[in-house]
Order: sequence, then C-alpha cells, then structure tokens
Amino acid sequence: MQDELDFDQLVLLACGHTAFHLLWAGVQLGVFDVLSKAPNLTRDEIAQRIGLEAQPARILMTGLAALRLVQKEGERFRNAPLVERLLTRSSPENMIDVLGWQRYIVYPALVDFVDSLKQNKNVGLRHFKGDADNIYHRLPHDPFIAKVFHDAMSSLSSAANRALAELKVFDQIEHMVDAGGGDGTNAIALVRAHPRLKVTIFDGPVACDKAREKVAQAGLAANIFTHPGDFFVDPFPGGIDAVFFGHMMPIWSHARDTALLRKAYEALPPGGKVIIFNMMGDDDEVGPMSAALGSPYFLTVATGEGMMYSWGEHEQHLIDAGFTPTERHVLPKDHGVLIGVK
Ligand SMILES: C[S@@+](CC[C@H](N)C(=O)[O-])C[C@H]1O[C@@H](n2cnc3c(N)ncnc32)[C@H](O)[C@@H]1O
Repeated sequence: MQDELDFDQLVLLACGHTAFHLLWAGVQLGVFDVLSKAPNLTRDEIAQRIGLEAQPARILMTGLAALRLVQKEGERFRNAPLVERLLTRSSPENMIDVLGWQRYIVYPALVDFVDSLKQNKNVGLRHFKGDADNIYHRLPHDPFIAKVFHDAMSSLSSAANRALAELKVFDQIEHMVDAGGGDGTNAIALVRAHPRLKVTIFDGPVACDKAREKVAQAGLAANIFTHPGDFFVDPFPGGIDAVFFGHMMPIWSHARDTALLRKAYEALPPGGKVIIFNMMGDDDEVGPMSAALGSPYFLTVATGEGMMYSWGEHEQHLIDAGFTPTERHVLPKDHGVLIGVK
C-alpha cells in the first residue's frame, strides 16, 4: 500500500512548474555554486554574489528552502547534500544539463500532454522546427536544441555509466555497435574501462559529428568509429559481436523495439550479445518516480509511441526477437542493464 498524499505534496504537484523554475533559477543564477564554494552565507551575502536585489533574493531563497534544496540554519544557508552532489558545476556527478532538457524541451511541449493522451500521438512536437514525426530527426534544424538534447543525454548517461562500465560483459566483446550512440559519452566511458574494446557509433550525421569531436578530444579515435545512418533503414555495420542500445528502447513502440532487436539479432554471430541500458520501470507499474515521470515525454514529444517500459517487457522484446535474456543488473539513478545472447 502506498503512503497517502498529503496537502504539501499536493501543493508541490499543483505548483510543479513553479518548483521547477525555482530549482532552475538556483542553478542558472549560481546560488548552488556560490554556496558550494562558501557554505553558510546569509541571504544578503548570496544576493550580492549573484547580483539580485533584496526582495527577489528573498523570494528565491524562501522557495529554495521550502523545497529543501538549501538548508537554512538561523540566518544562514547551505546546499542540501544531494544538491551539492548533483547540482553544482564542480561536482563530477552533476546532472545540471538534464535540467536544460526539461527547461527547453519538456516544459514547452508538455502543455500538449492532455491532447497527446487523447490523440495517442506526440502533439507537443509542434514546438520544434522541422516536419519529421519525431524529435530526433528535428534536432538538425535547431543547433541550440540539438546541443541541449545531446548535453542532457550525455549528462544522464554519465550519471550511470560508471557502474555500466564495471560490468564483466564488456571484457568478452571485441567490436560493438552503439546503436543511437549520440555524442559518444557511453562509448568513451566503456573504452576507457576496457581498452581492447572497439565501438562503432551508429547514429544520424549530426550526432556522429558530435561524437567524432568528443572521441578525438578523448584521444580514442583508434577505438571508436562512427557510422552515420538510420538504423531502421540502413544495415548494421558488419564484423561485430555485440550491439548496445543506450536510452533507446523507451523511445519506440513494442513492435519497433522488437524489430530493432531482431535487426541486431540478424547482424550478430551465434553467441553475439545485445545490451540494453536505460531507466527501467518497475514490474508492478508503480515506479520508480523517474520512469513514471519520464514516460509522458515519450508520448508528448519524442515519438508519440514509446514509454519507460518495465524490466519484464524489455525481456519479452528480447525473447520475441530471438535472444535469450541472461542477465539483469540494477544500476544507480534508476538505471538498469539487460543482456541477451543469440
Ligand atoms: C535518447 S538518445 C540516446 C543517446 C545515447 N545512446 C545515450 O544513451 O546517451 C537517442 C539517440 O538515438 C538516435 N536515433 C534516433 N533515431 C535514430 C535512427 N533511426 N537511426 C539512428 N539513430 C537514431 C538519436 O539521434 C539520439 O542520439
């Protein structure tokens, strides 16, 4: 049985947009960074450092304290421990760029959520330039939104890919396709941890350009290659023994996920592996919060056909495509990994 909703929680939900914009202001105006460098500042000291007048600073700091993003003791403020870890630029674990995705992609489009539910399609896509039927193929029309998107994905992936890279399966792979590999964040983390591994990123031309730049900066061009194309239309690169899908399966319908896995199956030799890495919905369909609150984006914006599927549903997709599911791994930040073998 779940806990009953209380009045404060209801206020938080009803004013969710305001709560988000308080959080966003705290990040944008540098409140959390200021408090990270100098904990225990008064409101006036914070206002002076971030350049706000007294009353706006009071509104902001009262909101941040009510939301428990900062802790107030007497007249002095400090960051909540989780804010220090996840929302300050100096923290290697920070997930600030994921907030940019909320601000510029999810917020504007979710005004169309009710219509998207009723029409069972991504009505919110109208907020983005281009005429493709999904956000990914509209990204090339808007470099700012493309950067927001890829930075957010990179930040989300980095939050869990240290634990991903520790999995033994990557020691057993020689050449893996990273299907929809984006800017190469996962490929770079995996090759750093497994220097014998070769990865080919199979994504659209804009993402592949970003990946090549990032891979060159990381000095890993001898291990990580790009293969621009559309994985629903173009064949997978040959000579591979694994296919990796990072944050890919929630985008598409059951039928397309199964078809994509089937295509991977056909490209692999017997014994070849498929690795699914994304946030996982609980099998009881109640949580976790990140998955439950992530699904509306896939309906309203991304494609209009996907959602955060449960562990069991992903396993069923693997079976339907011909794979034998062999491993389940629970990772930090509500992520999970499923491995299937041909
Ligand atoms: C949600 S992002 C995931 C990026 C990366 N795998 C990660 O985990 O951080 C989805 C990626 O799939 C790519 N993508 C979407 N449709 C595609 C298609 N038909 N062919 C190739 N790549 C595609 C997008 O360009 C984008 O980089």
